[in-house]
Amino acid sequence: MATYLISEATGWDLVPPTVLRNGPFGPGMAQLWVDVDETVDLQALARSEHPDLRRMAVLDAVVNNADRKGGHLLPTPDGRVYGVDHGVCFSTEDKLRTLLWQWRGAPLTEEAVEVLTRLRSELADGLATVLHAHLTRREVRRTAERVDRLLASRTYPYPSEDWPAIPWPPF
Ligand SMILES: Nc1ncnc2c1ncn2[C@@H]1O[C@H](COP(=O)(O)OP(=O)(O)O)[C@@H](O)[C@H]1O
Ligand SMILES: [Mg+2]
Repeated sequence: MATYLISEATGWDLVPPTVLRNGPFGPGMAQLWVDVDETVDLQALARSEHPDLRRMAVLDAVVNNADRKGGHLLPTPDGRVYGVDHGVCFSTEDKLRTLLWQWRGAPLTEEAVEVLTRLRSELADGLATVLHAHLTRREVRRTAERVDRLLASRTYPYPSEDWPAIPWPPF
């Protein structure tokens, strides 16, 4: 839910519409089902320079996604890519684990810098309030700190040597 809210704040439309609902086992998230293009080779897609993936690499760094595997990329017949399964995000420790390392160390796009700058000011304001319904104060604070770090380095992150940087299994 929180990753959807951040995706919406970026304007990048990377996470399918997601809502909170009460179900038989209590509250949880419900998400729009996205019909995928089954002919797309996920291994090739995950290594590609698709602009949605380039944006998703930034979103994942912001939400600290520890589980961006191939099956969590949904290519649509009209050429978009959505991301799903954000169940292991927002740790207060750095845990970025993803297949999308093709931009590591590269300069952030101008668009990403603009989006992150706007996101940072929203995280100091209304967006933080909205996120507090889903995350602890510390998790929200750390999210703002991750945005600060991205804006300070102006580069896509490198894989860490301190934890496995690729999800297992990757697909
Ligand atoms: N919104 C969605 N639209 C279409 N397919 C989805 C969506 N969410 C998940 N899936 C598919 O279902 C699989 C399992 O869902 P996921 O959220 O990854 O659950 P799990 O926590 O069991 O890994 C995903 O890998 C993806 O193929
Ligand atoms: Mg999954």
